[in-house]
Amino acid sequence: MRFGLGLISLVTLMIAPGLLAAQDFTTLKGHGGPIKGLDVARDGQVASASFDNSVGLWVGRKPVWLDGHDAAVNTVAFLDDGRLVSGGDDFAVRLWDGKTSHLLGRHKGKVMAVTVSPDQSLVATASWDGSVGLWSLTGGDAEALYPPDAGINDVVFSPDGAQIYVATTKGAVLRYDMSEPSAPFPLVRHGFGVNTLILSPSGNWLAYGAVDGGTRIVNAHSGEAIADFTLDRKPILAMAHDPQNAALAVADGHGYIMTVNTDDWKIRGDFRATRQGPVWALAFSPDGALVYAGGLDDVIYAWPVALMNQLTPAQGQDRTFLRDAAEMSNGERQFMRKCSICHALEPSNSRKAGPTLFGVLGRKAGTVPGYSYSRTLSGSKIVWDETTIDQLFHQGPDHFVPGSKMPMQVIARSRDRQDLIDYLKARTHSKEPYK
Ligand code: HEC
Repeated sequence: MRFGLGLISLVTLMIAPGLLAAQDFTTLKGHGGPIKGLDVARDGQVASASFDNSVGLWVGRKPVWLDGHDAAVNTVAFLDDGRLVSGGDDFAVRLWDGKTSHLLGRHKGKVMAVTVSPDQSLVATASWDGSVGLWSLTGGDAEALYPPDAGINDVVFSPDGAQIYVATTKGAVLRYDMSEPSAPFPLVRHGFGVNTLILSPSGNWLAYGAVDGGTRIVNAHSGEAIADFTLDRKPILAMAHDPQNAALAVADGHGYIMTVNTDDWKIRGDFRATRQGPVWALAFSPDGALVYAGGLDDVIYAWPVALMNQLTPAQGQDRTFLRDAAEMSNGERQFMRKCSICHALEPSNSRKAGPTLFGVLGRKAGTVPGYSYSRTLSGSKIVWDETTIDQLFHQGPDHFVPGSKMPMQVIARSRDRQDLIDYLKARTHSKEPYK
């Protein structure tokens, strides 16, 4: 472990309680978009899945960027041998060996979760196309399960790999026996979409978190209720478990992280980890001393678990799209709400999902150096000007430049498109540094 207890006790001595904030501790910086998924390997290495289309593999605090997805990456998981699997909004499931990856398989909808079987022979994926993908790591054929009538948000294996638990967007948790996958056992009927699952290493209890805030522990064999930690916060977005210290962490849409003692099922801690926005991703360090959390900030925070109740929320970035709309012109508002999460306006290369729009008016499509465009845009003859950008969002990228990596999006009102273009013109031709 690189960031063990040594650092934490040192910091405790130096800073008065109550004044500690996440940025006083380890933060992993460099992603160009929000953090959607996290995993920690047994040796303490951290992997992150980001809205900026990349997977970050952290060597200490230094990132190695794994580029290969064509859209936001939602989920990442380590294999025991240090390789990684990831899944994203491009429907792809990728297997990474160092910086190179290959397509393990492709869903027909977004991939929301990946997990590796205990014997390392299978990768299971949860997809909004309504299927659970089962991808062989040993050369076997891919298979799929089709739970009735729902998208899939999460999937976990039982400790012996003989069963899998599936969480659906329709609010069910189903248990599949891998030897008889045609007849799943309906373990939980929650009624609201279930987002996240944790199964204890003994296989005895299952924790789930749901869209309506439902946070419950059930017997993993019978479905019988064990404990209920539902608060007035929704949705529950992520959970992590540290078996050594009997700690279950639960993160929600309001940016809180609650920890629960899994021996006596009492709440141990509850604190607000971010000032703004949700916590989407959560993972414990191997010794349980830190909980890594990711969300709307492009930063991964590492919170010392022992000090959680004394911490103040992470300061966060000034996420301009959350600024008071009344302060902005319509054009700026259009940009902040609809473009800023993927595009910078500064000349320098950013790690955002899309290329910088600095100097975009008058620029030939697909020509920002160092940005990896789709073949559609890099081979395009389009020059971006008022007319072509107007058309891009009048028709939508899927019609105007079919095959590009840009998300489907139209701006219906011509007034909004014009205001946006005027704003881009002013900002991206300005000599003033953008702040
Ligand atoms: C979810 C991310 C995302 C959002 C939101 C987004 N874009 Fe993009 N945009 C991209 C990506 C990715 C590309 C590169 C596409 C490719 O290579 O095919 C791109 C490319 C572009 C290009 C072409 C740039 C060039 O160098 O050729 C323009 C212009 C553009 N976007 C404008 C906008 C504007 C204006 C908005 C807001 C209304 C917007 N985009 C919203 C991801 C996004």
